[in-house]
Amino acid sequence: MIQKPRFWALPVILIITGVLAAVGVAQNVAKEKEFRIERSMPKEAIACIECHKREHPGLFADWANSRHASANITCYDCHKAEAFDPDVSQEHYKQYQRSDQPYGTTEYKIPVAAVVTPKDCSRCHPDEAKQYSQSKHANTMEIIWKIDPWLNKGMNSDMERATGCYHCHGTVLKMKDGTLDPETWPNVGVGRINLDGSKGSCTSCHTRHMFSVMEARKPEACGQCHLGPDHPQIEIYMESKHGDIYTAHGDDYNWTAAPGTWSPGVDFRGPTCASCHMSGAGTTLTTHDLTERLSWELQAPLTIRPSEFKPFPAKTNWQTERDKMKVVCTQCHGKTWVDNHYVKLDKVVAEYNDVYFKPAKAMLNQLYDKGLLDKTKFFDERLEVEYYELWHHEGRRARMGAAMMAPDYTWWHGFYECKKRYNNYMEEARDLIKHNKKAYRATDYPNATGNTSKPKEVFPTGQ
Ligand code: HEC
Ligand code: HEC
Ligand code: HEC
Ligand code: HEC
Ligand code: HEC
Ligand code: HEC
Ligand code: HEC
Ligand code: HEC
Repeated sequence: MIQKPRFWALPVILIITGVLAAVGVAQNVAKEKEFRIERSMPKEAIACIECHKREHPGLFADWANSRHASANITCYDCHKAEAFDPDVSQEHYKQYQRSDQPYGTTEYKIPVAAVVTPKDCSRCHPDEAKQYSQSKHANTMEIIWKIDPWLNKGMNSDMERATGCYHCHGTVLKMKDGTLDPETWPNVGVGRINLDGSKGSCTSCHTRHMFSVMEARKPEACGQCHLGPDHPQIEIYMESKHGDIYTAHGDDYNWTAAPGTWSPGVDFRGPTCASCHMSGAGTTLTTHDLTERLSWELQAPLTIRPSEFKPFPAKTNWQTERDKMKVVCTQCHGKTWVDNHYVKLDKVVAEYNDVYFKPAKAMLNQLYDKGLLDKTKFFDERLEVEYYELWHHEGRRARMGAAMMAPDYTWWHGFYECKKRYNNYMEEARDLIKHNKKAYRATDYPNATGNTSKPKEVFPTGQ
């Protein structure tokens, strides 16, 4: 079953009141961009377009080429704020005191905010915003502050976080001197905490001002965050058969199929991240909650079901979610092919848990109990790092590689490295026990200066 777009309700009024010349549709036509404005648009909205067209031609062109522009959704619809909103740009009021500009007068003045949040988008896209708000993407700030030792033990600096972690996970937006605090913005991390209380940033995958589904359907949209030693999904994908097919045939895929109608086999030959995890297929409906379709919590130290993940338990049943994913697979594969793939994945999970993770964890606990490792900090003793990398790096790679059909990641970057690390770890641990020797502690651990208090916007009681 194919979903039909559900935009009809709200924008109808806008669509019939005026049509912006759809400059973007004809890409092969002359470069000169014509732009026509109908009478019925509020004069303040016309002012935004006319002035910004001149001031920021790049930004303007991006918007003018978007589906929003052809549906008459303008700057005004997304950036208009209330004068009392905390994120109103005080600077922008000055634009209405520019007698050098045709639209730079108080006649056109309205409050404007630079940040446009999922709450703003939800006026017209309530389903996507609701699904997104339930996802781990949107709630990641809560999750990482509950479980992460870098943050909770203060093992890195605030700058290391601002330029690293938070670019992917998101910041807590703040105002400073009437403008957005540079330590918190620009930022479009998946779980950004906005000043209106909403969570996340839709531009993580649909960059402004095109807001294109085509872009979000491509694996690169996910690969900007899902890469590297600890979550190499883009590398895994690119080495899988599905990735090979994307490389060979991707140019011919129908990337711009209408939202909710992008169909396996019809519009593309090999799935991308979005087609397996988000787009609709058969009876499986499009979703903006990436926890759907998962039967395992593969990134956790001990692999568990998504509903058993204590910091943010999914309200899902793993079998139902697995069946949804299988519906995607069976658009292109037979049942046995798909069932057998999952049989292998389940075995990988069981072996990783029992052979590598559980004994390593038991050994760590033993060392803490005997006082040979110190519990106050984390990462300042070598075995803590070894234990961390065992589950966080190669242990994840083995599981993710198996889940997404990348044998090089399952074995060479995965289980092979697990074996090597495990043996070194056990050798050193047993040596400490044998000689009852305390592990070396890096008392000069670099940059362990980060703030350890949880953000109050996410944890109002501090807990
Ligand atoms: C007379 C010209 C003019 C008009 C009219 C105008 N803007 Fe602007 N706007 C600017 C300029 C110039 C900047 C960049 C200021 C800068 O770089 O410091 C700007 C900045 C912005 C920003 C970024 C603000 C920030 O704090 O970073 C937003 C968002 C914005 N405009 C939206 C709008 C919207 C929406 C409207 C219509 C309601 C509008 N503008 C009307 C000229 C204008
Ligand atoms: C569909 C909603 C939407 C529309 C329509 C829209 N914007 Fe934006 N705009 C956004 C989002 C989302 C961001 C990203 C800001 C953030 O939340 O971090 C943004 C960011 C901006 C910024 C700040 C970022 C930067 O690069 O400086 C400016 C300036 C801006 N928009 C101006 C405009 C203007 C001018 C128009 C009309 C031509 C427009 N926007 C139309 C949603 C929209
Ligand atoms: C005032 C209503 C309105 C607001 C606010 C709005 N949109 Fe839209 N959006 C629309 C309409 C209408 C369409 C359908 C356009 C069409 O099908 O041609 C659309 C289409 C889209 C699409 C599909 C584009 C494509 O390539 O097919 C995306 C993605 C999208 N919007 C994202 C956003 C995001 C993200 C925000 C907030 C930053 C937002 N929208 C805010 C009305 C809105
Ligand atoms: C390049 C983007 C990126 C950076 C930088 C990054 N992360 Fe992540 N992080 C991710 C992604 C993607 C995942 C999801 C991994 C998966 O599912 O395989 C993740 C997962 C996590 C998780 C596990 C969440 C869970 O549900 O179990 C924690 C905790 C975490 N990151 C904390 C951090 C901290 C702290 C930093 C900085 C020290 C950081 N991350 C830096 C992208 C990033
Ligand atoms: C993790 C990446 C990602 C994020 C974040 C994201 N989207 Fe999407 N979005 C997609 C993908 C992929 C599609 C294409 C689904 C398809 O194939 O039809 C899509 C499609 C859409 C569509 C078209 C209708 C549909 O359901 O297919 C709208 C509207 C939309 N997104 C709005 C939003 C809004 C609003 C937000 C923020 C609340 C958001 N998106 C955040 C990836 C994302
Ligand atoms: C801006 C960075 C960013 C982008 C872009 C992004 N993700 Fe994520 N993703 C994350 C982070 C961070 C997490 C970890 C959240 C957590 O568990 O705390 C995550 C988690 C996930 C999860 C695990 C959810 C769960 O319940 O365990 C899946 C699946 C996922 N992302 C798929 C995607 C797909 C598919 C895309 C592209 C359409 C995408 N992501 C785009 C940052 C990103
Ligand atoms: C052929 C379909 C398919 C493609 C393509 C695909 N995935 Fe997956 N992905 C899966 C399956 C199956 C799982 C394991 C699901 C489960 O738990 O049952 C998975 C697991 C994941 C997880 C682990 C979530 C967790 O448990 O922590 C993340 C993150 C993820 N995928 C992201 C991506 C990204 C990003 C891409 C593209 C670069 C991608 N996937 C491409 C099918 C796919
Ligand atoms: C859009 C169609 C499509 C979808 C959806 C799809 N696949 Fe595939 N898959 C293919 C094609 C085509 C091949 C290449 C077959 C070949 O080797 O000739 C392939 C190859 C594979 C392979 C073989 C990998 C190898 O290295 O030999 C496995 C396993 C697989 N898919 C499992 C899955 C699973 C599991 C899902 C769902 C999570 C899925 N596929 C979704 C089209 C698809």
